[in-house]
Amino acid sequence: MKTTIAKVGQFVGQEVTIGAWLASKRSSGKIAFLQLRDGTGFIQGVVVKAEVEETVFQQSKNLTQESSLYITGIVRADDRAPSGYELTVTNIKVLHEATDYPITPKEHGTEFLMDNRHLWLRSKRQHAVMKIRNEIIRSTYEFFNNNDFVKIDPPILTGSAPEGTSELFATKYFDEDAYLSQSGQLYMEAAAMAMGRVFSFGPTFRAEKSKTRRHLIEFWMIEPEMAFVEFDENLEIQEQYVSSVVQSVLANCGLELKTLGRDISKLKAIQAPFPRITYDKAIEFLQEKGFDDIIWGDDFGAPHETAIAEHFEKPVFITHYPTALKPFYMQPADNRDDVVLCADLIAPEGYGEIIGGSQRIHDYDLLKKNLEEHQLSLDAYAWYLDLRKYGSVPHSGFGLGLERTVAWISGVEHVRETIPFPRLLNRLYP
Ligand code: 4AD
Ligand code: MG
Repeated sequence: MKTTIAKVGQFVGQEVTIGAWLASKRSSGKIAFLQLRDGTGFIQGVVVKAEVEETVFQQSKNLTQESSLYITGIVRADDRAPSGYELTVTNIKVLHEATDYPITPKEHGTEFLMDNRHLWLRSKRQHAVMKIRNEIIRSTYEFFNNNDFVKIDPPILTGSAPEGTSELFATKYFDEDAYLSQSGQLYMEAAAMAMGRVFSFGPTFRAEKSKTRRHLIEFWMIEPEMAFVEFDENLEIQEQYVSSVVQSVLANCGLELKTLGRDISKLKAIQAPFPRITYDKAIEFLQEKGFDDIIWGDDFGAPHETAIAEHFEKPVFITHYPTALKPFYMQPADNRDDVVLCADLIAPEGYGEIIGGSQRIHDYDLLKKNLEEHQLSLDAYAWYLDLRKYGSVPHSGFGLGLERTVAWISGVEHVRETIPFPRLLNRLYP
């Protein structure tokens, strides 16, 4: 019976054949232990000299790391095995013999591993991170589908710059100037006026000269946008969404979290509601904590965000930032116009901002005035202004950075391990 490692539990006591690669091996004169992987999981194959044909035992002793094979054996339940099963090998058919695989079980430097990212992805830790990423994507679709959102795909090639012009990747669109999307938000606002509640999931690009553990040049964002939703309801949806994603990973990726050594008690605590703190209060808090260089009007850096987050077990919303720190489209607060109805969601344990969101301006004149003040072309934004001309409604949305969320939930230090092929300041290979 041909099967996969994930499914061997259905065949206890039976003989199965699995297409697999040899991850690693240990052997003595009488027995060989093969660590096998097939993408669905990892399993140990045991080859006992006295129980197989001599050629099979010799073959297993000569197997090289990352050789591909069809392995046949009897499935045994084994409580000591991480997956709960082991394979008593009866036959091996080598498909391709790998020689000198560069990533050995010894320690390698980061640059070496990044140069070999196409191979590094096969390792157990990287496999676990990709499975968690996949579960976050799967549960994202589940959450939004269950809550009456429609998936909408904004364009990647755009003529406008929602998040400011300094970090744009410019390109030519025949004779016109175009930019790679930094955010699908403005298009999602148009879609929300057509569909009510929408979400997108796609790549976004920022030519940021930042070389930190939180910054990628190309990253994936989930951007919901909702008509008739104001500031508070926007935060409620965010906390429910983030909680449901974390709980799904806990429910469906137990093995992967274990492989990564993640402290799951910290994840279990991630249940809505999340705490909220205003920007004003956050500044006071930081000053009391001894950050005496920070004053009202300054943006927060990573150390500030971490100091605030450390105070809470759950992600924390920092709300009502100064207008001057934020993009042109945010709705001013009701009784003061020096702050806007926005919130950043800061993850615990030093993982930083995972969501940026806000209520959007729905008044035509105010939006037009802001575009002019930001010296943005009224022609380029004519379609966006139109949304305020025909049945304008209060609306809100947010963007969740997938890679920072994967880093936090997986407990991996750097976002470069959370995306299959990271694009970093000095890296476009592989
Ligand atoms: O806070 P940002 O810039 O918000 C927006 O783009 C809004 N237009 C979203 C919206 O309201 N629809 O980005 C949103 C999130 C951040 O909180 C962060 O998680 C992630 O995107 N992000 C990055 N992730 C990795 N590398 C980068 N360079 C990132 N820049 C932002
Ligand atoms: Mg932001």
